[in-house]
Amino acid sequence: MATTSRSREHYRDHHDWHSHDYVSKWAEGQDPKEKERQEQFRLLAKTVPYDKQLPIKILDVGAGYGALTQFLLKQFPNATAVCQDGSEEMAKLGRERMEHLKGRYTYVLCDFSKPGWSQQLEGPFEAIVSSIAIHNVRRPETVRSIYREIFPLVKSGGCFLNFDRENPPLHDQMEWLREAGFKDVKCFWNGESRALFGGFKKE
Ligand SMILES: C[S@@+](CC[C@H](N)C(=O)[O-])C[C@H]1O[C@@H](n2cnc3c(N)ncnc32)[C@H](O)[C@@H]1O
Repeated sequence: MATTSRSREHYRDHHDWHSHDYVSKWAEGQDPKEKERQEQFRLLAKTVPYDKQLPIKILDVGAGYGALTQFLLKQFPNATAVCQDGSEEMAKLGRERMEHLKGRYTYVLCDFSKPGWSQQLEGPFEAIVSSIAIHNVRRPETVRSIYREIFPLVKSGGCFLNFDRENPPLHDQMEWLREAGFKDVKCFWNGESRALFGGFKKE
């Protein structure tokens, strides 16, 4: 499917997500490790507060090649997804890997470290999810502002669930989710300096 929008400026961090070679190598290294996060993906899917048969709309923030999106589209066979990412190379790889899901997802390219990034996304979404992506921005204040931008995109009754490194510290991140407006903010799983945490938007 076609990309619906893209940011003109590229973000920079310690990874080179814009390099074809870096992304291929990262994906190659990640492939054998995918099974290690299936338990967390399953728990995340179970925590989404909707019946599996409903045609929910999912937003995967920093979706990469779509590992979590693919998992969720299988669990929710009538759902569609928007894969947000800042890397055209990741989106290319995602489109290759999700060829069998064509028509059920679209990529939106934008940099979530830049204020206003969420305006490129057409919500609301019943479930906004993310996996091992947001920590990349490093600056605590940026993570906090990302959560502030995510909240208005969540449909009432929906959720934001993040499986990520506990950096910034989990306690702070959970506080920023509450501050953004999320209720019942919880950590659902915690281990090896990663956590699955998130909150809900009340109807
Ligand atoms: C470690 S990969 C994880 C990808 C995927 N979520 C997964 O779990 O397999 C991090 C992803 O975040 C994206 N990313 C990092 N910083 C970003 C930013 N500032 N804006 C948008 N995407 C970003 C990268 O392009 C990359 O696809």
